[in-house]
Amino acid sequence: MELRPALEALKARAPFIPEIVVVLGSGLGLLADRPEAQRGVSIAFTELPGFPPQTVEGHAGRMVFCELEGRRVLLQAGRFHYYEGHPMELVTAPMRLFGRLGIPAVLHTNAAGAIHPGFRVGELMVLRDHINLMGVHPLRGPNTPPGPRFPDMTEAYDPGLRAQLHEAALATGQRLQEGIYLAVSGPSYETPAEIRAFRSLGADAVGMSTVPEVLVARHEGMKVAAISCLCNMAAGMLPRPLAHQEVLQAGQAAAAGFESLVRAFLRQ
Ligand code: HPA
Repeated sequence: MELRPALEALKARAPFIPEIVVVLGSGLGLLADRPEAQRGVSIAFTELPGFPPQTVEGHAGRMVFCELEGRRVLLQAGRFHYYEGHPMELVTAPMRLFGRLGIPAVLHTNAAGAIHPGFRVGELMVLRDHINLMGVHPLRGPNTPPGPRFPDMTEAYDPGLRAQLHEAALATGQRLQEGIYLAVSGPSYETPAEIRAFRSLGADAVGMSTVPEVLVARHEGMKVAAISCLCNMAAGMLPRPLAHQEVLQAGQAAAAGFESLVRAFLRQ
């Protein structure tokens, strides 16, 4: 995928270089509809050469440059998932663009299933680290300089940003968990045996996104933070099957807390 035309299109429309990108995951897109966002500059993915129309339900695929809590931010509403059949290059293309635009940091959000038995549905979890079991790697292939061929992932999730998220949670009186996110390709939910295996591997939550974007954002030299909304207990942890509808509802129920956390984080 040739990124230069999309980068030129984005540069032509960008009113400023944001301090941070907030990637709004499934069910967490409300921020992009707020008055601050409506006063901003909105760019549909379809306006960027090489980007296909967004397919996941409930997502308007766009990027919004706006001021939020006194900060210049870029909101990415909607993302391309690997399970939709998109190539990794497209899944991670926004991160390449953000890196090339000179944006120094990114906050990812996603929906995830809780594996840690102490977690509750509706809670938020800061990612401390991840385990990539998607079976693919977005950096496979010729290296894209100036990023290194073998990028270090020792502190993929920036300790300073993580501490700021915990301070924001204290300020808003929210419970904020921290843990390890394990990424699978989906689109099926996991089997109970897989969840037991993931737990023994050290995973606290499981999901189908974010890790490819984090790997590319780190390759681009950006600081990364990520939050999971724990939308369900993972397969086999409760005596009933998973229903996508319930996962979506839990996401919606957690959206307000998520928004206040992000706002408090930006105010710091
Ligand atoms: N598994 C994988 N992805 C998810 C889940 C889950 O249980 N919940 C939300 N996204």
